[in-house]
Formats: sequence, C-alpha cells, structure tokens
Amino acid sequence: MRPRDPTTVRRGVTAPTLNVISENPAHTAALGAALADWLRDGDVVLLHGDLGAGKTTLVKGIAAALRVIDVVSSPSFALVNEYDGGLLAPVTKLYHLDLYRLQGVDELASIGYEDYISRMDGVTVIEWPERASGSLPERYLLVEITAIGEDRRQLRMAPSPNDETWSPRFADLRRRFDAVNAANGGHQGQ
Ligand SMILES: Nc1ncnc2c1ncn2[C@@H]1O[C@H](COP(=O)(O)OP(=O)(O)OP(=O)(O)O)[C@@H](O)[C@H]1O
Ligand SMILES: [Mg+2]
Repeated sequence: MRPRDPTTVRRGVTAPTLNVISENPAHTAALGAALADWLRDGDVVLLHGDLGAGKTTLVKGIAAALRVIDVVSSPSFALVNEYDGGLLAPVTKLYHLDLYRLQGVDELASIGYEDYISRMDGVTVIEWPERASGSLPERYLLVEITAIGEDRRQLRMAPSPNDETWSPRFADLRRRFDAVNAANGGHQGQ
C-alpha cells in the first residue's frame, strides 16, 4: 500500500506540517524567498516565535524575493508597513504587521487589522499574531520558528484550515522547500 500523503488528510484529522531546519540567517532568507514564490494575493502568513527567533529575517527574504526595494525592518512605531509598486507578479502588495507593541485589542481597529487579514490585493505577513487575542483570518499559513542552536532554527509550517483548497498548495510548498534544502546541503522537509 502506498504511504498516505499527509497533505491529503481531511479537516479534523491531524493537520499536515512541514518542518524545515535553517542553518543560518541567509538560509532563513532563502526559505522566505521560496515562500514568496508560492504566495498569492489574499494569502496571510502568521509568524510565531520568540524574540529573535527569525521572523523578520524570514520577512526580509520574502520581501527581497518579491522585489521590495525599501528596507524591511520590524515596524517600531507603526505596527504596519506596506510595500507596493513593482512587486513580483502575481503578488501586488506586501503588508507586514508586527503586533509586538500592540497596546491592546482596541488598537486593532485603529490599524485596520480586520482589513489586513481579509484583503485580496496583496499578501499579509503578521509577526506576533497571538497579540490579536484569537482574532485570526479565516485561512492562513502558520509558521512557527524555534531557535534550536546559536544559528539553527526550526521552521514548522501548517495550513489552516486543512481543507481541499490548501492541500494541493501545501504539497506544492513542500516541494519548494525540499528544493531549497537540496540546494543548501540537504536538510529534511517533513
Ligand atoms: N538561522 C537563522 N535564521 C534567522 N535568524 C537567525 C538565524 N541564526 C541566527 N539568527 C539571528 O537571529 C536574529 C533574528 O532576528 P529577527 O529580527 O529576525 O527575529 P524576530 O523573530 O523578528 O524577533 P522579534 O520578535 O524581536 O521581532 C538575528 O540577529 C539573526 O541574525
Ligand atoms: Mg521581528
């Protein structure tokens, strides 16, 4: 019997995950570039991870691959940075939210959070989404980054919900990460 492809499991069953090891910041940026190539307008990516885990490093990799020319950094006063104009098709705009300094859920309305998690004219990437107290987009790709050494990070990715829309795309993402890892010395993507 053929082993069951974990990306075909149905909603309610254990969600498929994709685990990738990054060896250094450049490797994380390269994984971000692979992710960027996969993203489409309307996608939301939630980035979980401790301070210094590498969330912004991943966003920088995404932005560079999308041909964002501005410097991408953690927004320090503004909670949102928007990048548009000349991005790599099919992505029109990149919205980078960093909710670390959110003063409370009331502030979500003033930054237009609900719009960002549902707009179809670009890709939204959110650092510290847990600060939004459970106000999550209908569908998203969750990326959890964990430091497992000085320069080593584990990136664990999972689609939500795990339904028929996401499954084929998630399988495609797996192939893309496998290709990056093959180029970076063969770390597993499972
Ligand atoms: N494999 C790696 N991937 C990403 N960053 C790494 C890696 N190894 C070391 N680092 C370092 O870890 C730090 C990650 O910083 P970064 O700003 O990306 O984290 P962050 O998760 O966005 O933190 P914050 O929650 O403060 O916004 C950088 O100093 C980077 O050089
Ligand atoms: Mg950051």
